[in-house]
Amino acid sequence: MFVPALLARLYKPHEKLSQVVRSVIEVRKKAAMLRAGGSSGGGISSSSSLQRPTRCMRINRHSLKAPDQAAAHAHLPFAPQNAIKKKVQQPPGWKKKQGLMAEMSNILKAVTSNVLGRFVHTAYRFSEQPFLNEGNFRPVNEIGEAILLNNIDGEVPEDFPEGVYIRNGPNPLNPTQTISDSIFGSTSYTYYEGHGMLHAVYFNKRSLGEWKISYKNKYVDSDTFQLEREKNEVTFVPSADGQPYASLVAFAINTLRFGKAVKDGANTNIFEHAGRAFAITENHLPYVIDINNLNTLGPYDINGAWDQPFTSHPKKIHGSGELVIMGTNTEKPHYVLGVISSDGERLLHKVDLKFEEGKLIHDIGVTTEYNIIMDYPLRFGILRTLLQKPFIENDMNGKSRIGVMPRFGDAESIIWFDVENHCSYHLFNCFEDEHEVVVRGCRILGSVIPSGRHRVDKSKWYGRAFLQPDKDSEGFDPSLDGILFSRPYEWRLNLKSGETNEGYITSEEVAMDFPVINEKFMGVRNKYGYAQVVDTLATSKTGLFKFKMIAKLHFDMPDKENKKLISVEYHVLKEKQFCSGVQFVAKENGTDEDDGWVVTYVHDEGTNTSEVYIIDAKRFSEEPVAKITLPQRVPYGFHGNFFYK
Ligand SMILES: [Fe+2]
Repeated sequence: MFVPALLARLYKPHEKLSQVVRSVIEVRKKAAMLRAGGSSGGGISSSSSLQRPTRCMRINRHSLKAPDQAAAHAHLPFAPQNAIKKKVQQPPGWKKKQGLMAEMSNILKAVTSNVLGRFVHTAYRFSEQPFLNEGNFRPVNEIGEAILLNNIDGEVPEDFPEGVYIRNGPNPLNPTQTISDSIFGSTSYTYYEGHGMLHAVYFNKRSLGEWKISYKNKYVDSDTFQLEREKNEVTFVPSADGQPYASLVAFAINTLRFGKAVKDGANTNIFEHAGRAFAITENHLPYVIDINNLNTLGPYDINGAWDQPFTSHPKKIHGSGELVIMGTNTEKPHYVLGVISSDGERLLHKVDLKFEEGKLIHDIGVTTEYNIIMDYPLRFGILRTLLQKPFIENDMNGKSRIGVMPRFGDAESIIWFDVENHCSYHLFNCFEDEHEVVVRGCRILGSVIPSGRHRVDKSKWYGRAFLQPDKDSEGFDPSLDGILFSRPYEWRLNLKSGETNEGYITSEEVAMDFPVINEKFMGVRNKYGYAQVVDTLATSKTGLFKFKMIAKLHFDMPDKENKKLISVEYHVLKEKQFCSGVQFVAKENGTDEDDGWVVTYVHDEGTNTSEVYIIDAKRFSEEPVAKITLPQRVPYGFHGNFFYK
């Protein structure tokens, strides 16, 4: 009777609650009857069902096509499938008992979820973070069927490839309820947790060769998106950013209710492999997307071989077409690397790199021979909150290193290079240059999620972290000023001597991030990179990135004034215009690396209209060759990709 008694203490009895309590009692009676009937394995006690929701949920969601097998897995976590096939014949009546057990388990889950849902309603107050719901960060609705686009300034080039340009980004369902307050403290959603919405511009040609261009947007139909849309209210209590104890309670409630501590928004990137598209956020498996209609087809676990988080930035191997992936996790194994076959059907390699703690690593690099492992002290872990530490926190005094690992190597075969401490999210490219491995990325020093500096300190923190640092200014704080002022950087790792040479490669006055290259050059020496230039003043007001220009980096061309730096061209947008989802689109049969176009979504805050720009990469600073007006506003977001027909 413990559970009903506790519930009665927590809540005022009313009709629906009484039903819930009766359900619990009913379930417990059924369990007792089963035990009395001599269930061979002793049955599943109600408490054991409640104690293992995360694992049960994880296994279930990887086994959507075979629920019976998933149930078996719940008793043999991570057991190979043949182990299940070898099970001995069960006694008469076993199937019936198993059905009852499954029914009980489902009832218990529903009861737990209902009770906790009521608890959240009673104990929590939700309020708004206005900046997440203002201007072009405000979410939009799905537009429905694709709409033909005829308002084009300029011309889409005849040799522009047919395909679809898709950009992913957060589009929360309940944007006015992003802060939670309770007796446990305060937590808030971060910008990075909104449900993923895909925006797609289709480039098709009619039979006579003229362009037919259309637009469509659609939510990624992730598990947590379905949950929140069905309930038509906030489901997950915000957890990642907040006071440690409040975060811990939120993690516990979310896990007990939904089997996972945080949402799987699938909002960060959309990548291609083996002719398929995948929407991804790195705390979850990718979701397969039908790019023809943006429908979500289901999670991708490489035929059951991958049960880890999955990086938002997997890398295609030059030549073989295989895909290098990794997943970083709060629990052990903290960093797992994998290689997927070129047809996407098999996991060729899976290895635990034996990290000793959870670190939120966002990107991975590849060269022809090696996997390039970024390791920096951006720590994360639910257990940290037990020690009153933030869920996510970068250690400004910690150590960073970069690992060079043979493609099918393991933790022991990695050659590690100590580098200056940093917290960089994105890489341009990596390649081998004689005895050296060259790694180029956008380097920052702090976490973009200001965990541990919750709410009252946020605006002050943003105001200093994103602006260009002035080391000579009074009160300069190296742990705060300019730590998010992101600049292109090069690490040269000498495999022969073990030495590292590193340094910034562009002007200290310009911040940029979200780097891309011509992907045909992934893993091999390349001459050009493209990145979004940060409007640091606008960004510093809210902590939400705004990009006012696009940069083209000429890696092999020294800057005219400072020979230590490289030459950079800029495509400048008009005042009040900001871009997102920049990607390079290669010209078919192009001979030069920059034969192609840079595409981007652009929003004009003056006119409140959104467009897609097509910029000739060889005439980069000139006017776009085409500006395509979209039928509705496209909120700022994260990464874009072009899928060639
Ligand atoms: Fe990213």
